[in-house]
Amino acid sequence: MLQGRRILLIISGGIAAYKSLELIRRLRDQGAAVRCVMTEAARQFITPLSVASLSEDKVYGDLWSLTDESEMGHIRLSREADLLVVAPATADLIARMSAGIADDLAATTLLASDKPVLIAPAMNAMMWAHPATQANLAVLASRGVGRIGPAAGDLACGEVGFGRMSEPAEIVAEIARFLVKNQRLSGRRALVTSGPTREPIDPVRYISNHSSGKQGHAIAAALAALGAETVLVSGPTSEPTPAGVKLIGIETAAEMLSASEAALPVDVAVMAAAVSDWRVASSSTQKLKKNGKGPPNLRLVENPDILASIAGRSNDRPALVIGFAAETENVVANARAKRKRKGCDWIVANDVSPGTGTFGGERNTVHLVHADTVEDWPAMSKRDVAERLAERIAAALVPDTAAAPASPRVPGAGH
Ligand code: C5P
Repeated sequence: MLQGRRILLIISGGIAAYKSLELIRRLRDQGAAVRCVMTEAARQFITPLSVASLSEDKVYGDLWSLTDESEMGHIRLSREADLLVVAPATADLIARMSAGIADDLAATTLLASDKPVLIAPAMNAMMWAHPATQANLAVLASRGVGRIGPAAGDLACGEVGFGRMSEPAEIVAEIARFLVKNQRLSGRRALVTSGPTREPIDPVRYISNHSSGKQGHAIAAALAALGAETVLVSGPTSEPTPAGVKLIGIETAAEMLSASEAALPVDVAVMAAAVSDWRVASSSTQKLKKNGKGPPNLRLVENPDILASIAGRSNDRPALVIGFAAETENVVANARAKRKRKGCDWIVANDVSPGTGTFGGERNTVHLVHADTVEDWPAMSKRDVAERLAERIAAALVPDTAAAPASPRVPGAGH
């Protein structure tokens, strides 16, 4: 249900923090990746070791830790999440969020975040009912912060009333509802090609290239995360199939073309595969042997251009066709020419000259070439490139849906 979703769980200091341990386990059971930030007070209730063990990730807490800041600053903490969940959200943290105070890692991360936020309050009934808390909650609601609970019942302090943190199962269900509602590409179909192709010479040898499939697979993952029904046509790679994506494994360019055509109609096609330009005209059915007459004469013929074929379809051309251009010189100029030649809408141009480490590496520096404009993106991870591209695709296909933060849902309001 939450396959591939990344949740930053901020645990503040209340007795309900013990329920956050079960929350982490349940979120992970649903396939979410959970990274946790604990406040100083939270550490009085549960140990970072329990949180780290259950989340199977490092636990963050110290704003001043040089290691944390160099490895994972507070900005990246929120950027690398789909959603921030504060559970339990104490009266104190709610007050600091409302006032925009950034005096610890939890509050700073919340203030620096551009992602949707859900809070699950937990506190004594009097603290909950206090006009200060209610005013703070109203401020947060007006800013689009969603709220889950609290519930009424016996409180840890011995009193009865509103203030019990919602049960972990309920919080997980709300998170799932919230994320589904925010899927900007749901109901849309996407085709992505990825990886290299392999063109056989004989049964044991082939012509191929160094494409790792990292960028194409990340794009398929990002489109699926936005709710698109995504078909990934890929040559052989060691990349795992992204969650929620339908993989069609192929070897040759001819197979990639027919699998891509079979996936139509789609709203968007992103051709990120490194297709071999040539194949051997007639590959041998038997292994070629050294026969003393020198090397075999391999006649090469041109492969079909999959991008140009999809972009040139008359009846079922996707609304948006995006190609890639791996260039070693005059990156943008060559990409512009390629965009026209291939008839596609956008070209993602990247510099793959030796030393950039793009091929097989984790990072990429790209330029998004439109018909009239070029966006120069800074160097970023292939995953970030994929997410930014998926955002651009969503904005083009579904222009009336704004990116995060999403509108709040306020369960338990008006008790
Ligand atoms: O012509 P070039 O190989 O530089 O073009 C790169 C773009 O075209 C990429 O998007 C690639 O996936 C696509 N392409 C294709 N079929 C080919 C060659 C390239 O779809 N035979």
